[in-house]
Amino acid sequence: MQVVIAGSSAEVGRIAAAKVSQVIRKRADAVVGLATGSSPLSIYAQLSHQVREERLDCSSVRAFALDEYVGLPVGHPQSYRSVLERDVVEPLRLKRSNVHVPDGTAADVVSACAAFEQRLRDLGPVDIQILGIGRNGHIGFNEPTSSFASRTRIKTLAPKTRADNARFFSSPDEVPTHCLTQGLANILEATRLLLVAQGEKKADAVAKMVEGPLSSMCPASALQLHADVTVVIDDAAACKLTLSDYYRYTYQNLPEWQRFDAGPPPGGSSERGPGGASGTS
Ligand code: F6R
Repeated sequence: MQVVIAGSSAEVGRIAAAKVSQVIRKRADAVVGLATGSSPLSIYAQLSHQVREERLDCSSVRAFALDEYVGLPVGHPQSYRSVLERDVVEPLRLKRSNVHVPDGTAADVVSACAAFEQRLRDLGPVDIQILGIGRNGHIGFNEPTSSFASRTRIKTLAPKTRADNARFFSSPDEVPTHCLTQGLANILEATRLLLVAQGEKKADAVAKMVEGPLSSMCPASALQLHADVTVVIDDAAACKLTLSDYYRYTYQNLPEWQRFDAGPPPGGSSERGPGGASGTS
């Protein structure tokens, strides 16, 4: 696992976006796994900047959402289909038909999950899966005690997750109680995983994910089983890591050919490598 500790939340987005665009530049029709929520927004903003400047072409990119709420009507502004339309499809100029989201409006959720799994099998594997992390260690909506073998299915959202996501709705009661989510086994099948986290409220979950025991009590600890994981976090989210000095040291001494965060941030000075961020593999 490579842990990159960035000096700011904006820097998290810049470094993580460099990783995603590296994959898309190598393969124009790359399959990208999309997380929603606040954490990846700075990645999407950076990528859309590159698209606007014609330094990146996402017109052939295929994409899969990690999850979707159950029961929100089609077109609800907080359904993840709508959120992805606003934050990813339009700004990155993806083709709508190339973006696959579990159908949270389906009367038959078992069939909806099976159809989504089939599409993943047909088009996968995902080349790079973008992830955020919940305060309780969830990835996707795989809440604590989710099986490491789990696949796309309906889950009950933990009360803590509903409370955290209430900020997107006009009242806490409006947050759906259920979701469809890719399972931990689906996530582990992606070729590369890229997790971003910002802020001290994520520090406990990040420490358990990176340095804690492998446990379904922290579903994100499943990332320890994957051979190609990059975790990009800011100083606040890194503050409970025991080995943060080691991660910084390792990143500062990465061989040039292993670097992916090339180039200065748009409109800013170069903070590449040793000056801007730190980490390990
Ligand atoms: C949503 C998802 C979730 C979020 C997590 C963190 O698609 O995958 O795991 O990443 O709940 O949410 P934010 O980023 O809003 O703190």
